[in-house]
Amino acid sequence: MSQCMWSCSPWPKHGGQAEALLAHFSLPADHRLEDFSANLNPLGPPAWVSDWLVKQLADIERYPAPDYSAARQAIAAHHHLQPEQVLLTNGGAEAIFIAAALHAGKRAAIITPSFGEYARACFAHRLSVAELALPAPHFTLDIDSLLAGLNGIEVLFLCRPNNPTATLIDISAMEALLDHTAAIGCHVIVDEAFIDMVGKPPQQASLAPLLARYSHLILLHSMTKFYTLPGLRLGYMLADTAAIKAAESHQPAWSVNHLAAELVAPLLKDDAFARRTQRWLASERPRMSQALSELGVDVVPSQACFFLIRPGAEQRAAGLSSDMLFERLLHQGVLVRHTHNFAGLDGEWLRVALRDEPANRRLVAALKKVLHDCLR
Ligand SMILES: Cc1ncc(COP(=O)(O)O)c(C=O)c1O
Repeated sequence: MSQCMWSCSPWPKHGGQAEALLAHFSLPADHRLEDFSANLNPLGPPAWVSDWLVKQLADIERYPAPDYSAARQAIAAHHHLQPEQVLLTNGGAEAIFIAAALHAGKRAAIITPSFGEYARACFAHRLSVAELALPAPHFTLDIDSLLAGLNGIEVLFLCRPNNPTATLIDISAMEALLDHTAAIGCHVIVDEAFIDMVGKPPQQASLAPLLARYSHLILLHSMTKFYTLPGLRLGYMLADTAAIKAAESHQPAWSVNHLAAELVAPLLKDDAFARRTQRWLASERPRMSQALSELGVDVVPSQACFFLIRPGAEQRAAGLSSDMLFERLLHQGVLVRHTHNFAGLDGEWLRVALRDEPANRRLVAALKKVLHDCLR
């Protein structure tokens, strides 16, 4: 995959980046925008976090504890693992790059469409990349064709639930995949950045219990999505102790700052916040799924805190594209996520984040108006 794909496009690489988009579409820099492009938990961060951070500020004059033992113990207890199976990272993004570094120079495959950082990390660490495409419009995995496509592959990256499709490969398919990859000597790296949004208790949704059976499995987590801390950066890797030891050697010393590292244990203890988030997802996700479908757009069933949508068949036949929808929504003050840099989507779809109910209703109203104006 060439580097140009990531650097030559007029579309920004990630969500947000409103300034660049406003300039690109010749809108004034102070045009008001509501952001549905970044897939973060709208209920966070937990209310106590800012006071807590202020209290910790005195300690920034010291280096963080080099092995982050309190944070590792808290994460290990959360997943019923040993602290030696945990590497604390500077966001899920650092965990992705360390996972690629562990397999530098190998033949990788990525299940696409998916988060672009896997391809960037592979490029940075000289892995060759094959794409194994999930077919539109449902993006569900056919396990037999996946297994057939793994010949010669030494490491597989996949995201569960997947960004941007919000689909989840079920545990039985994952077990079949892990049995097969163990037999052919292919490592499996599963990004669980959105696993806490699935709606089941994390113990049932995460593959962490499978680490005891599969030493070729590596799990990557982000705490910035669920706890809404993207500016602080917090993530981790789970794997067997040998893989974690090897991973440590690829991480710069003190990679995670003191404030983020100290925050891990209190965040994981905040059951009330987790329950509130689950309640919001359980009511708002089906409500929005239905509200979007009623507008006639195609909606991929979501197991995460965002939806992949595109104009429905009739709307496409009438000449409406996702690019047009994106631009018209921008004019209406709504920023959604384009999909031009998701392999296999090529801008044909849009990703919209789930926010709180009043914001979601504003999104549906804006979409309704745009669809009406475009199709009348
Ligand atoms: C699937 C996936 N994994 C990892 C990350 C990176 O998360 P973090 O902000 O914790 O680095 C993202 C961010 O968008 C993501 O979508």
